[in-house]
Formats: sequence, C-alpha cells, structure tokens
Amino acid sequence: MDTHTDTDAHDLRHHGDAEVRDEKLIDLAVNVRTNTPPDWLRERIADSLTGLAAYPDGRAARAAVAERHDLPSNRVLLTAGAAEAFVLLARALPVRRPVVVHPQFTEPEAALRDAGHEVGRVLLREEDGFRLDPAMVPEDADLVVIGNPTNPTSVLHPAASIAALARPGRVLVVDEAFMDAVPGERESLAGRTDVPGLVVLRSLTKTWGLAGLRIGYVLAEPETIAALERTQPLWPVSTPALVAAEACMSRAALAEAEHAAHRIGVERAHLLAGLAEFDEVRTVAGAEGPFVLLRIDGADAVRERLRSLGFAARRGDTFPGLGRNWLRLAVRDRVTTNRFLQALDQALLIGG
Ligand SMILES: Cc1ncc(COP(=O)(O)O)c(C=O)c1O
Repeated sequence: MDTHTDTDAHDLRHHGDAEVRDEKLIDLAVNVRTNTPPDWLRERIADSLTGLAAYPDGRAARAAVAERHDLPSNRVLLTAGAAEAFVLLARALPVRRPVVVHPQFTEPEAALRDAGHEVGRVLLREEDGFRLDPAMVPEDADLVVIGNPTNPTSVLHPAASIAALARPGRVLVVDEAFMDAVPGERESLAGRTDVPGLVVLRSLTKTWGLAGLRIGYVLAEPETIAALERTQPLWPVSTPALVAAEACMSRAALAEAEHAAHRIGVERAHLLAGLAEFDEVRTVAGAEGPFVLLRIDGADAVRERLRSLGFAARRGDTFPGLGRNWLRLAVRDRVTTNRFLQALDQALLIGG
C-alpha cells in the first residue's frame, strides 16, 4: 500500500464535467442519466419555489429516507450531494490512518487530504479484474473508503466482502452513489445495522439528473451522524433539494429507478457487444454500473480524436491505479451508442 502526498501526479480534482464544459460534444463522459430529471420531479421541484422565503426544514425528507431504508431518522443525514459527505467525513471524524481503495472516484481522497490527513491507497489490480481483495487493506486502517459499484471500473463488489472490512474502531465508508442503477440494488449495504462503523453514502444526482441541485444522504450509526451534522453549516440542503429527496423516496420513484436500472443493463450489453468487435479494445469484465471502463493502447490520443469527431469520453489517467491507456464511457441509448461506435471505429482507423 502507498501513502501519497500532494506532489502526486494524478489530478484528483478532474471530473467528467470538465470534458464537456466548453464544447458542444455528445457526452459519454458524465454519468448522469440522460433525459432527466423526469417531468413529474421537475414539477415537484418547481412547486417548492413558492416556499423559498422560509428556511429549509429537513424533517420530512429525513423521515422519507429513513423509511425507504427501514432505519430510524437518527441514522440519516441529508447532504448537498455525496460530495458534501466526503468533506464532512474528512473533517468530523478523529481518524489517523485513512485508506482509500482505488481506482475509484477521487473526491474522498482529495477531501481527506484537504483536511490534513495522509491518505493510504490500496490499488486493486487489473489482473484481478479490479475486484476487492480484503486482505490488501491494512489492519490498522481506521477509515476505509470503497465505492460500490465502483466508479470508474463498474465493478460491483459482493456486500459480504465489503462488510468483511469492518473492524472495531474502524469507519467503513461505502460510496453507493451508483447503487440505484443496479437492478434490485443487490450488494447494497444501505439499511444494514449489523456492520460496525458502517457509513453508506447515497446520491440522488445521477439517476434523477439532479447534479445541479446537489442532494444525497448518509446512513450511519447515530453517533457518526451527529458528528457529521455538527460539521455541517446551518441549512446545508435547500428546500427544493429536500423536496426532491422526499419525492425520490416514493414507491413510484423507486419503481421508476428500478425500471431505469434494467434498461441500463440492456443498453450496457449493447455497448459492450459493440466494443467487443474492436481488437484494440479491452473492457473490464462484469460491469454493473451505468458506465464501462476500457483499455486501449494510446487511449489519450483516441480520446482526442473522438473529441474532434464530436464525442466526449472520460479520461482514465486521473484515477490512481489507471493510466493513459484507459477510458470510461457512460452507457447511453442505442442510437447514441451506435453513433459513438462508428466514431470510435474512425478514431482507431485514423490512429492505426
Ligand atoms: C462514485 C461517486 N460518488 C459520489 C459522487 C458525487 O455525487 P454527488 O453529485 O451526489 O455529490 C460522484 C460524482 O461523480 C461519483 O462518481
């Protein structure tokens, strides 16, 4: 395991949105579901604007999240996206030896470093299909962060192997930002109260297209929730975001998310089948998230050529454990995927 400092070469603050910010490209870089938020949710949010004069009251949203996961409200904290939760965890908890399991979303490590921590890295291996080997996590780690399913590998780790990382005196943070894109949310640890030190993070920004609204939540033991809440500023989640959270917990919304998860599975299979036609492309097996990770020799140049052909793909080199031969692609509808595959064909031809 490595311990890294600020001189590290990876740009931990690079995210997919930077790949589409300044040019009009077809976006396979950002993992937010397309055609979202749905109209019914947009309307609920719009209706909430009449109440903007009042300070936000998070009680109903908190109760709705608690009920959805069959937990008491004191195990729930609403946050301005999962991103806020990373900062709260880094600032509020008295940890001495945090470890992040990579490759994964880089903000948890960036937030820990910003809070003054030295961060250890466990680098899962390509030859193991980026699957978790719990034995790689050092025994003395008192905070472990892992994503499930993991961005960018799209690997869904078994809940049991993640739960096996729990130890007395250790905080085990499982970032489930994309779990609602997995049919049945199998392998989710949300709602579990038998895993000591468990902290589950959830996001509502991807499946529901609310990245600009900022809404997510934390599920954890009441003492941890209380410590995180003390670190939050007053009124951290706006009234429209609270209304959205409550709405996304309804039975109908959960059914819609489940339906979308199944559709993503079909569309991902189409993308993977198309990618399998290219000798130059190797995909990480067993993708379960709404994105796939691929290896192409010279992927950085391929990505540039794709941009000139109108498509944005997420670079892989900013993820610890990957490098310039990796790209991440969001799963899109069949028509977009077909167009992308044609562009990839051209990009590889030009390069070859
Ligand atoms: C794995 C993962 N976790 C968390 C986040 C942050 O999500 P939010 O928009 O809820 O802050 C992202 C955003 O890209 C992500 O990819």
